[in-house]
Amino acid sequence: MTKPIQIAIDGPAAAGKSTIAKIVAEQLGYIYIDTGAMYRAITLKALQEGINMASNEEAGALLKKTEIDLQPSENGQLVFLDKKNVTEEIRSQNVTKAVSEMAAHSSVREHMVELQQQLSESRGVVMDGRDIGTHVLPNAELKVFMSASVEERARRRFEDNTNRGFHVPVEELQEEIAQRDKMDSEREVSPLKKADDAIYMDTTSLTIKQAADEILRLAKERLS
Ligand code: CDP
Ligand code: CDP
Repeated sequence: MTKPIQIAIDGPAAAGKSTIAKIVAEQLGYIYIDTGAMYRAITLKALQEGINMASNEEAGALLKKTEIDLQPSENGQLVFLDKKNVTEEIRSQNVTKAVSEMAAHSSVREHMVELQQQLSESRGVVMDGRDIGTHVLPNAELKVFMSASVEERARRRFEDNTNRGFHVPVEELQEEIAQRDKMDSEREVSPLKKADDAIYMDTTSLTIKQAADEILRLAKERLS
C-alpha cells in the first residue's frame, strides 16, 4: 500500500480551508484536523472563566488544565471541551472576536502544536490552520496556502451565519475578518504566512469542487 502523506492547508479566515480540507480527507480516507477549532475551544473556556486574556501565563495555565478533543463526524468534526460538545458554540461572534488574542500567546501555541503533532503522528492527515506548513507539519508532502479576496470571504461568512440563523451585517464581518487576518499575520509567534514550499491557491472564483479536485490532483502526484 502507498505510504500516506501529510497535507497542510493554511490561509486567512473564510478562504475555504476547512470545507475543502474535509472533502480531500474524505476522498483519501485520511483524518481531518481543524486546528482553528482547537484555538476557538480554549478561547470559549477563557471567556467562560473570565481569565485575563492578555496574560501569556494565565492563558497557558488554563490550557494545561483543559481537555480538547476532536472526533470525526458525518459533517466533518465534532469539538469537545472538557467532554462537552461545543461544536456550534465555538463559532459564535464572541469567540471569533477574541480568538486571535488567545492564539498569539506562546504558551498556548507551544501546547497546541504538541497536541496537533500527536494527533497526526504516522497517519494520513489533512490539517488546516495558520501555521501548519510553517510549524506544525514542516515536512508535509503537500502544502497549500489558500486565499480569496476579503470581500468574497466576508460574503461567504455572511452566508454561513445566515444558514446558522445569525445575522451579522456583511460590512461588520469584513471588518472583523480583516482585523483578525492582521493580528494573525503580525503576531510574533508563528504568524500566518505562506511556507516557502507551499502552493498558492486563490479560491475567489473557484467552486468548492474545483479547489478540492486541484488539491486531490496534487496529492495523487505526491502519492504516485
Ligand atoms: O474558520 P476561520 O477561518 O474563521 O478561523 P479558524 O480557522 O477557526 O481559526 C480561528 C483563529 O484561530 C484564527 O483567526 C487564528 O487566530 C487562530 N489559529 C491559529 O492561530 N493557528 C492555527 N493553526 C489555527 C487557528
Ligand atoms: O476554513 P475557512 O475559514 O478557510 O473557510 P470555510 O469555513 O471552509 O469556508 C467559508 C465558506 O465559504 C463555507 O461556507 C464554504 O462553503 C464557502 N466556500 C465557497 O463558497 N467557495 C469556495 N471555493 C470555498 C468555500
